[in-house]
Amino acid sequence: VGTIVFENSTSASKAVAKEIADLIKVKQAQKQPCILGLATGSSPKGLYAELVRLHKEEGLSFKNVIAFNLDEYYPMEPDSINSYVRFMKELLFNHVDILPENYHIPDGTLSKDAISEYCSQYESKIEAYGGIDLQILGIGGNGHIGFNESGSLQNSKTRLVALDHITRVAASGDFSGLNNTPRTAITLGVKKIMEAKRVILMAWGESKSHITKESVEGTVTNLVPASFLQEHNNATFVLDKEASSKLT
Ligand code: F6R
Repeated sequence: VGTIVFENSTSASKAVAKEIADLIKVKQAQKQPCILGLATGSSPKGLYAELVRLHKEEGLSFKNVIAFNLDEYYPMEPDSINSYVRFMKELLFNHVDILPENYHIPDGTLSKDAISEYCSQYESKIEAYGGIDLQILGIGGNGHIGFNESGSLQNSKTRLVALDHITRVAASGDFSGLNNTPRTAITLGVKKIMEAKRVILMAWGESKSHITKESVEGTVTNLVPASFLQEHNNATFVLDKEASSKLT
């Protein structure tokens, strides 16, 4: 797995946005859809801001973009303040010309017994497009990617998962306390992430430096799902100086 270190998260996010824009344009020229796997959380905010800027100021079109988000809390209403649907609309989708039918975010409103069928359909849709061209990831303090928590298998499928305590604590500020923080989520499985043709994991700040080192330089282990990326042939950790500070 490669690493690239930038002076700060702003310059790093712009570089990632440039790679995405270039891919979208190559696919446009080929009259092909561009299949993006997208993440939420704080790490991709600068990336989405830059993609919106490229659309508004430089005419980058998202008409050929098909997006699949990694995850959603369960249960979760789409218009709730903490939903990932709302996050994606407010930070990206509402500000670019992506067609509403072309973005997909796991549905947090399903009844429990409908989830597993829904998850296999989510994967089938990705497969119908020939897989994800470029997957954006953040990383949890425990090494999770998507909500594939510690212990997730490398061939895990899209599914309902229990969130780790550490993940819930990290989210509890948004939910005004741990008691209100969801205990479960629907996540794209590790397998579909690993099948993406290109993977970019973004990590910023000192608080991500330890898990970045574990993931990049440690043993490949399901205790740290991000370490699976060592076995991907086109994955890059895009880091700011602080997140890279423990790498040897
Ligand atoms: C979000 C996701 C998570 C986050 C991770 C880091 O869609 O899949 O894996 O990427 O929890 O979150 P931030 O960026 O908020 O530190």
